[in-house]
Amino acid sequence: MFYSKIPLGSVVDVGCGSGQFTRSLAKHFDDVIGVDISEAQISSARRLQHLNTTYVNAFYKALIAKIKRLKLIFSRVGSGEAIPVPAESTALVTCATAAHYLDPNKFGSEIQRVLKPNGCVAIVCYELVSCRYNGEKVEELEQAFEEVFMDKTTPYMDSFYHLVRTKYADLELPFENIERDDSYTIEKDMMLSDFIGFLKSTALYQLFINANPTKPDPAIQFQQRAREILDVITPVHLLPVTMHFPVFLILARKTVSK
Ligand SMILES: C[S@@+](CC[C@H](N)C(=O)[O-])C[C@H]1O[C@@H](n2cnc3c(N)ncnc32)[C@H](O)[C@@H]1O
Repeated sequence: MFYSKIPLGSVVDVGCGSGQFTRSLAKHFDDVIGVDISEAQISSARRLQHLNTTYVNAFYKALIAKIKRLKLIFSRVGSGEAIPVPAESTALVTCATAAHYLDPNKFGSEIQRVLKPNGCVAIVCYELVSCRYNGEKVEELEQAFEEVFMDKTTPYMDSFYHLVRTKYADLELPFENIERDDSYTIEKDMMLSDFIGFLKSTALYQLFINANPTKPDPAIQFQQRAREILDVITPVHLLPVTMHFPVFLILARKTVSK
């Protein structure tokens, strides 16, 4: 697209983690700064950026321009409540799957401070809703996922996950002109064993397991149910499934006092 060829100044990505989302911004901006409260995540972001750059450099010389942009990512330890960049220094603040961990008022004030006049904030997150068989909707499988995994784990959700489950409807950011976009969905193909690994990595699963160490594992129970529904013979690492994540995006522009 035309706009994607124009560098858009600077962007600060808050709660950047290991930089997965941050790196995707690099080709659109002159400067990209990833900020995360966890030193371990920032070290991992720096390591992955280096690996990425080296990998692309070695194998795809045609992407050298892109590599130059990748080198412009700076990752810093800092919080969304005290963003370590000067006032009015950035055109955009992004926050991917992290806003629910932040204090909304302090984060909102910091966004206002660091944005240039008319600068924007884009907060994005996704919610897990269903598991399909090889891209195909199987009613029984979707129902089993709700009953065996979601219904069992959801009662243990904390206030952070509640914000995600309700698609940030209750995230109160101090902006006058907030817009939402709920039109995107991520679909990811993988094997059932990877899907179970993903379920086990979710905060929701961890909360359930911590509260119920002796109860049957809902991820394993779903795996067994899925095999019964789909095919009892194929091993889980060869059973193709598709995860569906509805994406929700919240956009706002810096309020400039007249
Ligand atoms: C689910 S991860 C998202 C990582 C990344 N944005 C992505 O989409 O892959 C949430 C991140 O928010 C970070 N985080 C939590 N509280 C934070 C805070 N107050 N300020 C900045 N980062 C924070 C965590 O350390 C973690 O890396």
